[in-house]
Amino acid sequence: SAEEENWPEIEKAAKEKRRELVLQGAVIDEKISSNGGLCSTIYSLKLLNYLEIIQCLSLTEIHGDIKNLTTLTSLIVCRNKLSSIPKTIGNLKSLKVLDISVNNLKALPDEITQLSELNTLNVSCNNIESLPDGLCHCTKLSTINISKNGITRFPDDFYRLDLLSTVIASENYIEDLSGNVHMLSALKVLDLSNNKLSDIPYELSDCSKLKEINFKVNKLKDKRLEKMVNGCQTKSILDYLRAGGRGKGKGSKQADGDKAEGGWNTEKTQTKKQRKQKKKNEEDEDEDEVANELKDVRPYLVCCVVRGMNFRSGNALKRFLAAQIKLHDDLCGKRTTATIATHDMQLLKGPLMYDARLPPMLKIVPLCHKEMTAVELMRQLQLEAEDQRKQRKRQNVSGLHKYLQLLDGKELYPCLVDAKDNVISFPPITNSEKTKIRKTTKELFLEVTSSTSLQICKDVMDAIIVVSSSLSMYTKRHTVGLNPTLQKLVIQQVRTVDPDGNLKVVYPSKTDLSTDSSSKITIARLYRGYRYRVNV
Ligand SMILES: *[C@@H]1O[C@H](CO)[C@@H](O)[C@H](O)[C@H]1NC(C)=O
Ligand SMILES: *[C@@H]1O[C@H](CO)[C@@H](O)[C@H](O)[C@H]1NC(C)=O
Ligand SMILES: *[C@@H]1O[C@H](CO)[C@@H](O)[C@H](O)[C@H]1NC(C)=O
Ligand SMILES: *[C@@H]1O[C@H](CO)[C@@H](O)[C@H](O)[C@H]1NC(C)=O
Repeated sequence: SAEEENWPEIEKAAKEKRRELVLQGAVIDEKISSNGGLCSTIYSLKLLNYLEIIQCLSLTEIHGDIKNLTTLTSLIVCRNKLSSIPKTIGNLKSLKVLDISVNNLKALPDEITQLSELNTLNVSCNNIESLPDGLCHCTKLSTINISKNGITRFPDDFYRLDLLSTVIASENYIEDLSGNVHMLSALKVLDLSNNKLSDIPYELSDCSKLKEINFKVNKLKDKRLEKMVNGCQTKSILDYLRAGGRGKGKGSKQADGDKAEGGWNTEKTQTKKQRKQKKKNEEDEDEDEVANELKDVRPYLVCCVVRGMNFRSGNALKRFLAAQIKLHDDLCGKRTTATIATHDMQLLKGPLMYDARLPPMLKIVPLCHKEMTAVELMRQLQLEAEDQRKQRKRQNVSGLHKYLQLLDGKELYPCLVDAKDNVISFPPITNSEKTKIRKTTKELFLEVTSSTSLQICKDVMDAIIVVSSSLSMYTKRHTVGLNPTLQKLVIQQVRTVDPDGNLKVVYPSKTDLSTDSSSKITIARLYRGYRYRVNV
């Protein structure tokens, strides 16, 4: 206003083109009180890098014009009585340090998430109930102090802050620390003392830089763990979590047992595989084997090979993939009853083996991703599913969510592995980028798995073959100068045998495939030229 007095401190700073300004103490507080706020000329000090205004109990707000101070790198406004922070704070694109601790803040503006250079955020000692979603956009955030507030949870995307090294969150009402905490790979210090946690996820032990943790005064269900967090060093607690498998009240001994058994299973499978590999040369080419461990995981699998496909013309590949998606949605009940995987025969090396592996040991190159373990993939998909769910306004469980749940609580995950030990599929989640079908694919390796029934596998397989043959007929009509009989698909029979060599299933058998499609396909029952075998 016109009556507003200029403050000498601010005039001096302007005259001297100062880059730093500190205002504190009783004299300033009085001026703020009589002026009804800060002198507005402060917002014209456009050269400021550092602004500190502290211990002014009359300071209840900062004007939106703070946005004019675009070169600010540090804004320290702690120990005042601020009841809000202006949204325009999002304009301070150079801001690295924001300290708004010890004020009367009930919320943080979402615009804080636009501070892409932010390194340190201190909001401790306020009445904040939640952190804004989107904090993951502050990719450089390394220290955050949210201590002494009313926060009940970390937002889901909080775990994506992979440069975050110090998290002080003591004296809040946090009920849950997600297993995604392992994604905070730079984490060194984590203080969650005086909260409402009932357990600590074992994934915390994957944070390899962790030096200091504090979980005192929570309500941990695992009483032994509770004792440890009060007395033991960080390393011992992390060791306990690591051994505890889930960190949900499991004792370390029992969990060690679980691990050893899982490891042994995998080893046993390996040995069996090697043994089979030896026997392979003496046996028929087209046999499969079922690993016993799969009984509890995803027991039913049906495979076959389709030769004579032509995806080169027009949008044949697109239409085939669209048909597969439709089958997944309808016949496969959004993958809950069965899952289809398609592979390019040329890109996989037989014999194949259907295996069950410990999630951290199952490595795959999923479609459109880099190689990762099943654990990493599942976490990534869970985050994606969570994002999807949010976009759809909370209520709905997404399709992705539904089939991720199918693996909930499983000790071992199913996978189909080729002779070079490449995991070519991880049902019902994904198949491998390495063997995915392309326009050049001529021979398809088809795989249908189910945890509920063998018949559904066969029904789904029948349906894909019908799709394939109709696609091939369509192609034929549009291909000039080729002998039509060459266009007929050849379905290569694949047998599945158990570890002792007993036949489990052969597809297609006499009862599979309708007579309707038999005019369009030839079933190769004993095609011996094939140098592969599927150990299912
Ligand atoms: C801040 O910038 C706006 C224009 O963006 C201007 O209207 C306003 O007067 C400036 N405030 C101060 C105190 O300089
Ligand atoms: C955060 O604010 C508190 C209270 O003002 C202070 O004691 C602490 O040093 C600050 N921490 C950081 C990392 O800025
Ligand atoms: C975090 O904030 C609390 C409360 O203001 C303070 O006591 C503590 O020293 C701060 N810790 C760090 C590491 O900044
Ligand atoms: C939830 O999903 C179902 C289909 O899965 C859909 O019919 C329904 O409209 C969705 N509801 C909301 C609120 O999005």
